[in-house]
Amino acid sequence: MSDSSFAARLIAWHADHGRHDLPWQQSRDPYRVWLSEIMLQQTQVATVIPYYRRFLAQLPRLADLAAAPQAEVMALWSGLGYYARARNLHRCAQVVMTEHGGEFPRQAEAIAALPGIGRSTAHAIADFCFDARLPILDGNVKRVLCRVLAIEGFPGAAQVERRLWQEAERLLPASKVATYIQAQMDLGAGICTRGRPKCDACPLAAICRAQLEGRQAELPQARPRRAIPLRHTRMLVLRARNRVWLEPRPPSGIWGGLLSLPELPEDQAVDKVALGVFLQRHYGCRLLSVAPAPTLMHTFSHFQLEIAPLICDVEAENRAAEGGGCWLDFDSLAQAALPAPVRKLLTSIV
Ligand code: ADE
Ligand code: SF4
Repeated sequence: MSDSSFAARLIAWHADHGRHDLPWQQSRDPYRVWLSEIMLQQTQVATVIPYYRRFLAQLPRLADLAAAPQAEVMALWSGLGYYARARNLHRCAQVVMTEHGGEFPRQAEAIAALPGIGRSTAHAIADFCFDARLPILDGNVKRVLCRVLAIEGFPGAAQVERRLWQEAERLLPASKVATYIQAQMDLGAGICTRGRPKCDACPLAAICRAQLEGRQAELPQARPRRAIPLRHTRMLVLRARNRVWLEPRPPSGIWGGLLSLPELPEDQAVDKVALGVFLQRHYGCRLLSVAPAPTLMHTFSHFQLEIAPLICDVEAENRAAEGGGCWLDFDSLAQAALPAPVRKLLTSIV
């Protein structure tokens, strides 16, 4: 794949299939372009358009925005969400007034130093308004590059992002940069979408590694799940004829308020004699036989739990056990409020 073919394909595609009628495309006024880029962060074009028109009708110049009361700015933004964008926008207009004499800065580094403007947005403004030749790298462009070049790793990771900036730099065309940038935005929004990209209609299909290898669904890779700790517990299935011993979990914490199996203290020995003494003391029952059952894994949001069950056939004596538990008939288990892994375990053994 030659470097120019990526850009050349996008530029040619944009002539026929890109969007040319968006309100912010009618102007090279940095105020108007900047406002559109901020509104378009995390928000779709169709949602933005009426807000954009209303905002500019009421505050047509940067000086008007800088002088407006914050309540007016927030009211114009109301419904667009991510309100930090509006507060930064207002502050940015005031900084341009006080530190740049009311002139929007023309250099990308100066633009990127303004409140609420990141590197990619600064580059887009410089490309659209000041004929710069700088790459953009928003979420849409990251997705397209990861797919076309089959770049592995989570695109938000610093190392992957560095690589993406390098590729974006390398792929820039010598001319028609503004058209190229707009084409990238339009492709990411309409063709190379996160789910079900429209590869049949994509000008990059012939050079796209994800498409050629059928890996569109795998790329870009998701944020890695952080490793969660593994905990262990031993659960007692006390089986007395056709009943099993269950006890309520404390109201807060995992499985709060559900009925569950007793858990053995960590230091409790499980040879038949020691376990027999333990069951006699705490549950008022006599141990007949004990056997381990296969372990179960259960995943919570913050840890994994490995459950090692011990199946104990017992004879229940007629005295109350501690802890507010109860002997439940096997027939009643279906109606009981049990944690999923406990239900699974009991279903497999009773
Ligand atoms: N998303 C971000 N900037 C955009 C633009 N200029 N046109 C369309 N979608 C965009
Ligand atoms: Fe995206 Fe498909 Fe085009 Fe590749 S071919 S860039 S996956 S739309």
